[in-house]
Amino acid sequence: MDVNLTELEKRFLSELEVIESIGALELLEADYLGKKWKLKAILWGIKDMSIEEKKQIGVKANELKNSFTDFLVSKKEALKKALIEKRVQEESIDVTLSYSSKMRGHKHPISHTTELLEDIFISLGFKIEDGPQIEDERHNFDMLNIPDNHPARDVWDTFWISDEINNHKNPGEKLLLRTHTSPVQIRTMLSQDLPIKVIVPWRVFRYEQEDARHTCNFYQLEGLVVGEGVTFWDLKWTLDTVMKELLGKKTELRFRPSIFPFTEPSAEVDVSCQICGGTGRVWDRRCSMCSGTGWVELLGAGMVHPKVLEGCGIDPMKYSGFAFGMGIDRIAAQRFWVSSSRMFYQSKLKMNEQF
Ligand code: DAH
Repeated sequence: MDVNLTELEKRFLSELEVIESIGALELLEADYLGKKWKLKAILWGIKDMSIEEKKQIGVKANELKNSFTDFLVSKKEALKKALIEKRVQEESIDVTLSYSSKMRGHKHPISHTTELLEDIFISLGFKIEDGPQIEDERHNFDMLNIPDNHPARDVWDTFWISDEINNHKNPGEKLLLRTHTSPVQIRTMLSQDLPIKVIVPWRVFRYEQEDARHTCNFYQLEGLVVGEGVTFWDLKWTLDTVMKELLGKKTELRFRPSIFPFTEPSAEVDVSCQICGGTGRVWDRRCSMCSGTGWVELLGAGMVHPKVLEGCGIDPMKYSGFAFGMGIDRIAAQRFWVSSSRMFYQSKLKMNEQF
């Protein structure tokens, strides 16, 4: 019987050694220690032995049972550990591996153009300012010399925040989605010392009938320079330098007299069309970007109106300034040869991915 136990232990150990899964281990456990366990079978065979023999075998069999249990437990641990290690190895991600550049996102043409413009203006000594997109009527209109009854308010028709919300949050104040970046001129003049030399890029809104050149959400870049002895010539030089840098040395600017309530004198500035090279024709067709004129309207500009300066506590007899506001979308369209700036907002990946 003693021999049988030794034999049984050998068999158990050799079977245990080749086991590679927890399922197989459980079967082995059932086989040796379960209801019909092999050890039990052996123990049944001892009923005919003397009491002394029975005692000896009984003790040994018990020891064997305990050692089988220990072996099974440690094998189970080892198998679990191996399983985890295998999974970790299989599922590990090498973050240093390169991946197809096709999957990588990239900057939108408008962000790209904004950053280029920012870099150029910074190189000319401008600082970047920011302002709220939900603006109040005072900054967006009144302080820019556009009082309530002014016809120019129609040009900058916008989305107003409802009175119900206004009264709840800012009683007595009318809030709106800013129609231009010009209110940041006011905020800057009220909060900063002279001289001022800033640009204000980013988002504006209009209550607009959309077409190829108009969208109800678009991007502007405002510029403001205020100090002693600032002239219209400075304005022309600045815009000419920036546009040549951005679109190429051959780019020409055209200044046309215009009216803005916050500048006097005012001008509208066109840039020679990049699509047709200013000729108005592409092959033998009329250029759709500039409607065949060779010029694209790019921005409004002028000398800051004395009333606006005064409203911000700046003496117009001593100081002067120029300002301008350009449409980033249109510049991006010119730069990237896109015939309709509305295409920038249509989530057409095929178009955006070209740049
Ligand atoms: N704010 C004007 C607009 O949205 C653009 C503009 C014109 C800005 C003349 C200026 C300026 O600063 O001087 O149409």
